[in-house]
Amino acid sequence: MNENKYRGIIQKYKKFLPVSSKTPVITLNEGNTPLIYAGYLSRLAGKNMEVYLKYEGLNPTGSFKDRGMTLAISKACEENAKAVMCASTGNTSASAAAYAARAGIKCIVLIPSGAIALGKLSQALIHGAKVLAIKGNFDVALDLVKEVTRDYPIKLVNSLNPYRIEGQKTASFEICDYFGDAPDFQCMPVGNAGNITAYWKGYKEYKNLGLSRKLPVMLGFQAQGAAPIVRNKPIKDPETIATAIRIGNPASWKTAVEARDESKGLIDMVSDTEILQAYKILAAKEGVFAEPASAASVAGLLKLIKKGYFKNKKGKITCILTGHGLKDPERAIKTVKTPKVMAANLKSIIKEIGY
Ligand code: F0G
Repeated sequence: MNENKYRGIIQKYKKFLPVSSKTPVITLNEGNTPLIYAGYLSRLAGKNMEVYLKYEGLNPTGSFKDRGMTLAISKACEENAKAVMCASTGNTSASAAAYAARAGIKCIVLIPSGAIALGKLSQALIHGAKVLAIKGNFDVALDLVKEVTRDYPIKLVNSLNPYRIEGQKTASFEICDYFGDAPDFQCMPVGNAGNITAYWKGYKEYKNLGLSRKLPVMLGFQAQGAAPIVRNKPIKDPETIATAIRIGNPASWKTAVEARDESKGLIDMVSDTEILQAYKILAAKEGVFAEPASAASVAGLLKLIKKGYFKNKKGKITCILTGHGLKDPERAIKTVKTPKVMAANLKSIIKEIGY
């Protein structure tokens, strides 16, 4: 095989990852996602600010989870595991199912019944995972998965698995490689808090190796009805239309708070109304379709702009768009006016489009 051809994050960043020549690389060529300049948002942010969208929805299964999953599944295979398991609000299960299928091992996923987007459920099922929908939320599902994987020969592939975080940190490397340095600010959604942990780890490692000069200010956003870190206490019944981040007791709580404090950043919350507004702005003004949880990063950016947070500041802001809009087509349809049904008649069509 040609070494110069891009073949995923393990091949590209192996010297920064816990892999050796013995690690079987299970890849779908994940990573290498575009960092898209956002003109509309940049103008809103102020004359000295540039906003970029890291479009993680363009990973093979449509979310950032693939970065961590390629490594978690590769390491599981290296350790001769025959089965993996995760709890999920949808994207982790889609990714685990795809990479497990590619590796030829069994995948079991626990999802909160009725609370994951249709696209994600269809992915887990079509890739052949054993999908169990429980009468309980994500936090309950994760507790059950922790117990099962402690007692049975099944590898846990939630972000408590350190290889998930290691793989996900490569997104920071890509951003630094693209700009030649880290951005000044980074806005991102926070759910189980693995991703903010991973990005911060990646940024610090690149700086320590002299591959970047600065560190970004980390700005994390939870949904208002699912904001345990902001409220400083677990939420028993988290609620939000952004089902991907409907989490009341994040597994990586402590490291998310460290990322916030070490970077002199913040973790704030945004309402469902603000999330949907940002979701529509992204699609209609920037041409980028991201799922609602991803739009929380832009909702947070807009909230901070309104508060004057970026006044007299300058530099680059990256907003992480964690998952593709097509993951949750039902939400898109609910958010806009559905098309008018009309007669197949030229005259009325011309009239309708305003000529
Ligand atoms: N955005 C999307 C689209 C997600 O799917 C998730 C998490 C997050 C943001 C938050 O990332 O948990 O690392 O803070 N989804 C997990 C799942 C929980 O099961 O798919 P986090």
